[in-house]
Amino acid sequence: MKLQNNTILITGGTGGFGFEFASRLLALGNTVIITGRNWEKLQEVKKQLPAVHIIQSDVSRAEDISHLYETVTREFPALNILINNAGEMRKISLHHQHELTDITREIEINLMGPIRMVQQFLPHLKKQAQAVIVNVSSGIALMPFPISPIYSASKAGLRSYTQALRVQLKKTNISVMELVAPGSTTALNDKFINEDGFNPKALMAPDKIVAAAIKGMQQDKEEVYPGLAKIMRIISRVAPKLALAQAGKMGASYMYGN
Ligand SMILES: NC(=O)c1ccc[n+]([C@@H]2O[C@H](COP(=O)([O-])OP(=O)(O)OC[C@H]3O[C@@H](n4cnc5c(N)ncnc54)[C@H](OP(=O)(O)O)[C@@H]3O)[C@@H](O)[C@H]2O)c1
Repeated sequence: MKLQNNTILITGGTGGFGFEFASRLLALGNTVIITGRNWEKLQEVKKQLPAVHIIQSDVSRAEDISHLYETVTREFPALNILINNAGEMRKISLHHQHELTDITREIEINLMGPIRMVQQFLPHLKKQAQAVIVNVSSGIALMPFPISPIYSASKAGLRSYTQALRVQLKKTNISVMELVAPGSTTALNDKFINEDGFNPKALMAPDKIVAAAIKGMQQDKEEVYPGLAKIMRIISRVAPKLALAQAGKMGASYMYGN
């Protein structure tokens, strides 16, 4: 599709991929609205990108999504692209004590968030001449990353949902793209820096990943696999046990050491 004169809503636009999406899509001549939980961070982005529209909204809260829908469709009725990008990733030892309400946090943000966003915005997107939903999954959707078990489950779930969504929307004006992103140098990965087996050199810059995603949107791709994600895709198919054994080495002392 032509990535100009669209109205684009990006969840989690205050850092990492979301910020990169916002600045590039603004530069291409689109109207861009971003969300995030933290109002100060949103105002900071507004200073850097004065044309961006900011709305405080937590994608893990159903009531925030309803409110976001009312605001966006009232103020930006031409909305035709939704980028489900907001996400969180924690390292979790399952040997530790966790509150039952907290242990599922990544499911609420990374999986329930996009499912609810799509459900809420679908009738509106159907009214547009051409619409796109982009779901940001991960190479970890292809092979689990044992130090982040809930994150792994959330992204595998999001990938499955995205594929089913694409089939159900086949006869509509809405296309669905999955960005299967590899590890990147964003704040998301800061918590892993001191873990054994962590290799910062394997991380790809967010601008390169988002450039690949935008090219994919322009070429109407269904899935985009930048950098190492391409290799993860092959290994997860031909040698899944090897892939899991390798991924299990990262943060081994944290996971097995209690
Ligand atoms: N970085 C990687 O290595 C990597 C690899 C593959 C896939 N991904 C995926 O790419 C997406 C973006 O990741 P990133 O690396 O750019 O992360 P990041 O730098 O940590 O940025 C995350 C963004 O999401 C927002 N956010 C988090 N929880 C939210 C919530 N409940 N509601 C609304 N906004 C929320 C954050 O703002 P607030 O904190 O202010 O809410 C921030 O703007 C995520 O879905 C992530 O899983 C990342």
